[in-house]
Formats: sequence, structure tokens, C-alpha cells
Amino acid sequence: MFFLDSSDPKEIRDIFAWGVVSGVTTNPLILAREAGGADLAKRIHAVIAASTGHVSVELTSETESAMLEEAREYHAWAPDRICIKVPFTEAGLRVTHGLSRQGVATNVTCVMSFNQAYLAVLAGCTYVSIFSGRVRDMGYDVRPVIEQTRSQIDREKHASRIIVGSVRHFMDVNESLAAGAHIVTVPPPILRKMLINPKTDETIREFNTAWANRGGQGK
Ligand code: E4P
Repeated sequence: MFFLDSSDPKEIRDIFAWGVVSGVTTNPLILAREAGGADLAKRIHAVIAASTGHVSVELTSETESAMLEEAREYHAWAPDRICIKVPFTEAGLRVTHGLSRQGVATNVTCVMSFNQAYLAVLAGCTYVSIFSGRVRDMGYDVRPVIEQTRSQIDREKHASRIIVGSVRHFMDVNESLAAGAHIVTVPPPILRKMLINPKTDETIREFNTAWANRGGQGK
């Protein structure tokens, strides 16, 4: 599956109309870049209206009680649609465990290793977000992290789903899916690049030109 890694309601509406995207992820960096001055609740409501499926909204507080309070606020905006994105920390694991026991969808984020991913899964997360680009920034191959997490989830029959985020190129998408990601969250410009193939364009032009210039036979 694909999710869209964006907080831009227009872009989200346009791309959801392709019928290929099943959810949205945001993070504080994306929101600061795309909607720095906007009211968070209004922006997230606009994202919800433009999409279907879970919309991940990330906690920015760092203590367990403040995180739970922030989570309660976001969850109340749209209990069926909001997924609480919880940064991977010790407090984050406690929050994930507590929210999951209350039936609140959670996405444990900023995960760079198999051990972190497995802890998130055991805590009961709905999604665990493994950061492809940032793992590669450290000089490591992210594929074994995805493969080990997927085989552990399958072997022990956990309900958690792997989202691969921090996607920088569309080969990251292909490699993540091949390694066992259930979902890749893709920035709109990278999803749009998947539309482009010069041979496809050339072929469509050839077919349409032939049809426009056809002779009288068969008319
Ligand atoms: C998605 O859930 C992540 O927050 C996002 O993909 C991170 O991307 P970045 O590493 O390019 O900031």
C-alpha cells in the first residue's frame, strides 16, 4: 500500500483521486514547512476531508503525561481517522502501550533499527515507521531492518504493520516493498515521478498520431 507523506490538502485531494493511496502521514517538520503559520486542528481537518484512511499526527511533547494529553486532543478531532504518531522513546513506548489498550491507533515513528521496531510491535502499535533515508544517511542498508521486522511480525502473528518513511527516491519505494514493507509513505513529488516513462509517452503519441492520421479504410 501507499500512504502520502504530506500535509497539503490540495495535493492530497488530487492524488487520492488516482485511487492508489490508503492513508496520510504528517510530521512536525512537514507541517512546519508546508503550514508553519496555520492552525494545526484546521490543517488536519482539511487533510482528513481530502483523504481516506488513517491520518498520522505526531506528538511533540516528551513526557508521558504531556504526550497522553496531546494524544487525547488529537484523537478527539476524528477518533476513526486520527492515528497518533508516537516518537520512539521510553515514554513513547508507555504511551503506545496505553493508547493501544484503549483502542487508539498508533504509529511509532523515528525507528532506525530492528530492535526498536520489535519493541514498538510488542508495545502494541498499529504501525511502526522505519526511516529509510535517515538509516541510509548513517551509512547502513535499511533493507535488513525491514526484512527482520517483517519476518518477526509474520512469525509471531502480530497485527502491527510496517510503514517505510523517509523516502528520498523511488528506488527506496521499490526496495522497501521488496524487503517486506506493508506500506510505504511517499512524498507527492516522488509519487508523481512514478507516472513518468518516456517510452510510454512515445508509445501513446505514436498510437494517437496514427489514429488522427488514419486513412479512409474502416471509417
Ligand atoms: C513519515 O512518517 C516520516 O515522518 C517522514 O517520511 C520522514 O521523512 P524525512 O526523513 O525525509 O524527514
